[in-house]
Parts: sequence; structure tokens; C-alpha cells
Amino acid sequence: MNDTPVVDGSLVALLRADLTAAGFTVDGVAERLGSVASDALHREQPLPALLATESSVTSVDDACGVLVRLFTLGRPVRASALGAALPSLGVDGAVRLGLVRLEGGRAGFAADRWAPPERDVVATCDLRPYGDDAHDWWVASDLSELVVGGPLRPDHVLGIGGASTTLASWTVRRPADRALDLGTGCGVQALHLTGHVGAIVATDISERALAYAGFNLALAASEGAGAVPDVRLLLGDLLDPVAGQQFSLVVSNPPFVITPRDEGVPLYEYRDGGRAGDTLVRSLVRQVGSVLEPGGVAQFLGNWEVTAGRTWRDVWGDWLDEQARDGVALDAWVIQRESQDPAEYAELWARDGGAQPGSEAHSMMYAAWLRDFASRGVEQVGFGVVTLQRPATDRATWRSLDEAHGPVAAPMGPAVDAGLRARTWLAEHSDDGVLDVAWSCAPDVTEERHGVPGAEDPSVILVRQGGGLGRVVRAGTLLAAYLGVADGDLTARAALDAIATVLGLDAAEVHAEVLPQVRDLVADGLLV
Ligand SMILES: C[S@@+](CC[C@H](N)C(=O)[O-])C[C@H]1O[C@@H](n2cnc3c(N)ncnc32)[C@H](O)[C@@H]1O
Repeated sequence: MNDTPVVDGSLVALLRADLTAAGFTVDGVAERLGSVASDALHREQPLPALLATESSVTSVDDACGVLVRLFTLGRPVRASALGAALPSLGVDGAVRLGLVRLEGGRAGFAADRWAPPERDVVATCDLRPYGDDAHDWWVASDLSELVVGGPLRPDHVLGIGGASTTLASWTVRRPADRALDLGTGCGVQALHLTGHVGAIVATDISERALAYAGFNLALAASEGAGAVPDVRLLLGDLLDPVAGQQFSLVVSNPPFVITPRDEGVPLYEYRDGGRAGDTLVRSLVRQVGSVLEPGGVAQFLGNWEVTAGRTWRDVWGDWLDEQARDGVALDAWVIQRESQDPAEYAELWARDGGAQPGSEAHSMMYAAWLRDFASRGVEQVGFGVVTLQRPATDRATWRSLDEAHGPVAAPMGPAVDAGLRARTWLAEHSDDGVLDVAWSCAPDVTEERHGVPGAEDPSVILVRQGGGLGRVVRAGTLLAAYLGVADGDLTARAALDAIATVLGLDAAEVHAEVLPQVRDLVADGLLV
């Protein structure tokens, strides 16, 4: 493939060494640009960063600035500047890796003398640092919309976006033998998996995406990067390339964007899996159990259509019933993070890919989205994070369909992991089992009491979770009294019986009111 980077082991190792020496890391770039330009760039506003790197174009002692200007901002730099920024790879090596091309030649005055024409170097892909707490990585992808300055090619390979980092944050990072990254794109989820998984399979329907993923994984794995897991890249649709295989973890930021099948609307591979409506996400739900080993977990993002007279929980109820009927029954924890009406959704996606609001192309696409939703009677589109688990033992499955629209913990994976374990424990234990545990309030739980000024008793008691899903629960008198004594010493049964005695209530009635609330708080980690 001549328009994607090339995996040449020795050149990739030189590139890695040069990028590291240049300080072209997440922290290094933030320091070089300063907080204002960095923050603006995160908001996709390149101007402050362009101004901050103006002098880098010709500089031979500002390696980080040169690399940011060339690879992240997509502006030409002089060949001599790039040569100084990549001293071991050299400009020639960068050309051979398919990262840059040479252009033109410009004569001019330098240091008061007439200088021979010098060539510019132009990036042919976006390359930027990325990392987690333990790793410095780099991610190459196609040049962004900001640089291309017009509509993107249909097989555009996306860099790291909000959805990528959301999935990475929510992923359960237990040590695992085998994991699948479905729709790997530039390979960002696979990079994260290298930290805790022995063998990784990354699939995509796009050969160009696999070429980028291969390059990025090679860059992460090149000499000096320490031990690396075995990664296989496979081409194909959804689960086809891994049929018959089993994984402990499947992650996917799939092309879930609902896109009208309309001539004027571009079908970008990165966001639209070539199906109508939300069919792709629904298929994934139906099929993913077939590649999960017992105890295995699948996590993905998705959109779902909600038609008139239904709720998003009705939709998921149908999808999960269908899944249990057609395949291995799975536990399901779906967290709806957002819900948009058809116009909000159309506005978001008609703009994506380069069409400017107000332009004819944008209006045409906006209308196509509205017609498409209307044709199926769609009133809302939900977005959220889906976690499915294949039970490790022969037990009934559980379902948790929750909403969390506010900020959540970052990373969220540890809370998802704890939530999976808690929900599984709850599914395996009767109410008596729950009453026999001495629960305590998690350390991040606080209580707020609100009342009319001067009133002796609060009119509202809110229990607030500091981490996890950031839940806020309104507690009645009984729950508040129980949480006040839930410190791990008394079983829930003993505590609730004592509360019933003090308040002169029937113990069975107190159990009946508080137990479902205790289960709910245990599920989300407010009681541990
Ligand atoms: C939104 S991008 C996600 C890229 C990357 N995993 C991330 O988290 O940023 C979706 C990827 O799915 C791929 N894709 C599209 N249709 C697919 C299909 N039917 N089967 C497998 N992958 C597909 C696209 O080529 C694209 O790379």
C-alpha cells in the first residue's frame, strides 16, 4: 500500500529513538506548546499552536517543535529542520517509511548570503504522541480534517478521538490471555491491550487501517520498548475473521454511526459499518457471545435508535432477548451516556468529515439524516457503553440497564470491573445472603443534607459517590439510618433489625424497603 506508513523494523527503531530523544511525547509536546496552545489544539483549534511553532519551520535545534508542526499541524518544514529533528532516521528514512514527501525547492537569503534552494518536507500522515500511565506511544493515522481542509476520503483512517479514549478508559484491564480489538483502525485499543494481554488479534474491514495499526504496533514494539505481546492483524467483516476463536476480552469502538443510505452522504468506513440504522451494533450484540470464553467480557460503544412509544430500555430488552435466544446467554450492563433527538444527531454527524454548517452539502446531509430517521419513526438516539459478560458457571444471567449522563471516574475500567463482580455476586446470592454481609460505605461516599432554614430535620438526604459512575441517590429515613451505621461491623440484617426496633417498625417491612436499595448501592460500589 503506497499511501500508508511502511513497517521496516530497523527504520522504525530509528524513528522511535529519534522521537524519544526529541521529547516528542505527550508531556514534551504540552511543555513545548504551553498550556494555552495545547488546550486549544485539544479543542481542534490549531492557530495558537501554529503561532507557537512558527520559528520551528527552519529550526535545527527545536526537534519537538519541528515534529509538532510537521506531523500534528500538517505544515511543511525545511528538510534541514527535519533532518536535525530525526538525526538517526534522517529525511530519507522518513520518506522510506512513508511518513513524509519532499516538495519543491526554494532559494533565499540565509545568514546574509544567497543559499541554494532547499526543499520542504510535507507530512503524508498525522503522527502524534499518545500514552497511558506506563507507556509512551505514537499513533500514525491519516491527516486530519483540519489539515486536509475538505471532505475526507471514504477509507480515511481515523486518529485518536473522544470515542477511542472513552472506550480505553472504560475497558476492564484484568490480565488476560487473549483479546480481540474489533475495528482496530489505527490500533489504539490494541496498544492499550499490550499492557495486560498476552496475545491480541486486531481486525478491520479496511486494509489501510490494518497497515496503520501494524505500523503503530511496530513503533510501540520496536527495540527498546521492552517485552511485547503477540499481535495478529486480520482483515474482515465484524467477527468473520475470528470465527471459532475464543477470547477473554473483546473491545470494539465499532463504526456505530447511524448513516442514511443516501447517494449524497459519504460512507466513511471509520464511522459507518455499511448497514442501515443501528443494525451493526445489534449484530455485534447478537454475535459476540460466540467468541467469548466462559467468564469473558466484551465491551463496546454504540448508538441505538428509539422509536415512538418505546424507551431505550425496551430496545435493549429486545436486543438481549434476541441475543439469549440465538446464542450464548450473556450478562449485560448497558450504560446510556447520552440521548439525542434526530436533529441533534444529524447536526453532529453532517458536520463530521469536513462539510461546513450552512453549506449546501451540509444542508443536504442534514435533511438526509432527518428523512432516514423519520422513515423508521426514530425519536431518540441513545449513545452508551456496553459491557457483556459470558457467565463462568451455569447460572442465570443478569441485566443492568443504567443511565449516567454526568462525569464518571477516569479511568472508569476499575469501576466497571468492580461493578461486574458485584452484579455477578448479587445474581448468585439471595436476599438472605445480602442481609448476612456486614457492608460498609465506600470511602468515596459522602452524604448531603438539605433542609428548609431552621428546620430540625433535613427534607432531602443525598448520598453522593465520588468515583465510579458518580451516582447521587436520594435516601429515605431508613436507608440514611442504615448507611449511618454501615461500617463493616454489623451485618445488614442486624443493623436493619436494630433500626426497626428503635423506630418501632416491623423488621420485615424495613427489610423489604431497604434491601432493593442496598442491592442497588452494592452493584455500583457505594456499599462494599
Ligand atoms: C470508529 S473506528 C475505531 C478505530 C479505533 N479502534 C478507535 O478506537 O479509535 C471504527 C473502525 O472499524 C472499521 N470497520 C468498519 N466497518 C467494519 C466492519 N464491518 N467490520 C470490522 N471493522 C469495520 C473501520 O475501518 C474503522 O477502522
